[in-house]
Amino acid sequence: MSKIVAAYSPNVSKLISSLSNSQSMKIIYQIIETSSICVEDIEPYRHFETSSYGRNLIYGCSQFEMILICWKPEQESAIHDHDQSDCIMRCISGKLEETRYIQTSCEDGSASEIKQVNSKIVREGDVTYINNDIGLHKIRNINEGVSFALHVYFPGIRKCHIFNTEDNSKREIMNSFTSEYGVKKNKAGMGYDEYWNN
Ligand SMILES: [Fe+2]
Repeated sequence: MSKIVAAYSPNVSKLISSLSNSQSMKIIYQIIETSSICVEDIEPYRHFETSSYGRNLIYGCSQFEMILICWKPEQESAIHDHDQSDCIMRCISGKLEETRYIQTSCEDGSASEIKQVNSKIVREGDVTYINNDIGLHKIRNINEGVSFALHVYFPGIRKCHIFNTEDNSKREIMNSFTSEYGVKKNKAGMGYDEYWNN
């Protein structure tokens, strides 16, 4: 299912190759943390959205997908989970705030209150890791300017849930891309099925 359209920089190519040959999440984390990837490497994928953050596909295969998320000032995600995927995020530039939550199920199957667990600042070069066993989170750009974060999902994440703290409800959403392999989509989400079906 992998596609290579854009010419990857040496740092991006090296990262993709290293991740493709790794199985252990501990090693994968270390590879992402020690990668030399920098702002120049992600230049082709820096596309923004007005209503939300930009979500730009750099690389995808059956094993993982690599996405650059681009934040304008004050943009933030909803509280969300990560389906069956492990998510590793590395801040490439700017400053983000990650707030984590948990929601447990009651014995009758109903959802309990969504509780904030902690909040931390993610600066340039910092790496975070989350999956559904750890909990939920939301990410907010707290930089005065734009911020960029590399997200690597094992496996690729097609859908997730977003959570509402007002009534503790959740709903499923399909993830879409602002650009794919450096090519801006005409409209967010277009081309997504094409990506997953190939
Ligand atoms: Fe996330």
